[in-house]
Amino acid sequence: MAYETIQVTPIGGSIGAEIAGVDLARPLSNRQAQEVHDAFLEHSVVFFRDQRLDPEQQKRAARLFGEPVAIPFVKSLDGHPEIIDIVKEAEDAGKYNFGGNWHTDTTFLETPALGSLLYALEVPPRGGDTLFADLHAAYETLSPGMRALLDGLTAVHTGSRSYGSQSKFQGGKNQSVSMAIDANADGDRLVEHPVVRTHPETGRKCLFVNPNYTLRFKDMTEAESKPLLDFLYAHAIRDEFVCRFPWRAGSVAVWDNRCTMHRAVNDYDGHRRHVRRVTLQGDRPH
Ligand code: SIN
Repeated sequence: MAYETIQVTPIGGSIGAEIAGVDLARPLSNRQAQEVHDAFLEHSVVFFRDQRLDPEQQKRAARLFGEPVAIPFVKSLDGHPEIIDIVKEAEDAGKYNFGGNWHTDTTFLETPALGSLLYALEVPPRGGDTLFADLHAAYETLSPGMRALLDGLTAVHTGSRSYGSQSKFQGGKNQSVSMAIDANADGDRLVEHPVVRTHPETGRKCLFVNPNYTLRFKDMTEAESKPLLDFLYAHAIRDEFVCRFPWRAGSVAVWDNRCTMHRAVNDYDGHRRHVRRVTLQGDRPH
């Protein structure tokens, strides 16, 4: 796609592109906003450097892609229910980091997030990158037989391992001293989504299961589901489907949660990392 008001540079062979020529703190022209949105749909995750955003500016920037929404279980920023601070402190060494397993955000909800805009306030001197995986490529590179099998399947998702009775954050365990995660019985709810969803804006199909929240296939046991789910997870994070974003303070990432998974790499013990996320309201996957 040709862009006239922004510069778009892919950072991986499959997904991910850096966008230059945009100050997200200011309102964009209609043309620029349209091109930023086009690049988001074309590359599934887009990155901006050297931004300076207060919470209101961050929410306005997020509205270029969708409508900000509050998410359950994680304490939000005071006065901004749609914003969460994701922090690992230097003294949190040895602890799990928020978002550290491959996942697609909030698939434990009936309407999982459309996407998120993540803004880096403070990053470690090295490490703390985020990985993004292309779930369109994952689906499109499966054999016709496997695609036909998956097209007819439904998966059961739950927040149980993160926010329910199986939570790794239960009783303050694992979580950063600066985050408040309220794991409770609501996290054990089960919801169903198609294993293959159609992107509502592009019409492309993609795989829609993830190791953090997908429990099993509908009408199958966890043990029966596990071999095929494990195969799909390993397939989806093949090197050629993944891009890696090295953060700097002031960097912004916006991912299309309808067709990607992501994972925050936990390799910076002893250093502080503080990123701020606005989550966007999604629709029911079909
Ligand atoms: C997340 O999963 O929302 C956090 C990603 C990150 O901290 O890089």
